[in-house]
Amino acid sequence: MGSSNEATLGAVSTVAIPDYLRNTYWWAYLHPRGVRLFERRWLVNLILFGNYNRLCDEVIDQVGEDAIGPTLQIACVYGDLTQRLARCHQQRGQLEVVDVAPIQLANLRRKLKPDEAVQLYLHDSTQLGFPDNHYNRTLLFFLLHEQPWQERLKTLQEAVRVTRPGGQLIIIDYHQPRRWSPLRYLLLPLLRKLEPFANDLWQHDIVDWLPAGLSMHNIEKQTFFAGLYQKVVITLPNQ
Ligand SMILES: C[S@@+](CC[C@H](N)C(=O)[O-])C[C@H]1O[C@@H](n2cnc3c(N)ncnc32)[C@H](O)[C@@H]1O
Repeated sequence: MGSSNEATLGAVSTVAIPDYLRNTYWWAYLHPRGVRLFERRWLVNLILFGNYNRLCDEVIDQVGEDAIGPTLQIACVYGDLTQRLARCHQQRGQLEVVDVAPIQLANLRRKLKPDEAVQLYLHDSTQLGFPDNHYNRTLLFFLLHEQPWQERLKTLQEAVRVTRPGGQLIIIDYHQPRRWSPLRYLLLPLLRKLEPFANDLWQHDIVDWLPAGLSMHNIEKQTFFAGLYQKVVITLPNQ
């Protein structure tokens, strides 16, 4: 498993760029200068108040250093998270990444070394072109807060659909900081301006967007950095 030494771009056709990405986040993810600017680990770490490594470590701990079976990462991430994940899948796993922006997939492909085998796919998270029940685990790293309500619902619905029974959804994203934290008051105006959909994650639990009727076997939630970040791991029922 994971022995192929190239990152391939699978299932390429045209996929429409969602309005929220084109209108709100074009400068961060779609414009070549934005990609060049933000593809710096120290900058992403600064934006996350020094928590990038810690949050990536949480993902790696959850996935395991020697992951078994297929993992789907939904959406590219600046920095080295995918490269680290690729190493976890070298022996007995397969890592696949989808993104809706070709420029992001091209950027990721550039970052991967020949021995970091990852399959890359051009797909919208709200309409993943993969079979049901396929992945052992599915990762959403800071995607949900960027999406409007309906897209977030559909993304989680798709994430659940493609994850096998007994598999896990691993979610890292923003969360409302504790009352005593100055971040709760200082960040709000900034988020309103730059990340207009992020406030939803301050007001709701992730489970509020999960498909109705899904009986979750287990949900574990942890918060970090005075509550500004959350890790939610949802284990799907076995049948
Ligand atoms: C995961 S989010 C934010 C990640 C984080 N802020 C970072 O450090 O990169 C950014 C990525 O999500 C992708 N994206 C946004 N909406 C998407 C969608 N509907 N389907 C697939 N990818 C999407 C963007 O193209 C971008 O590559």
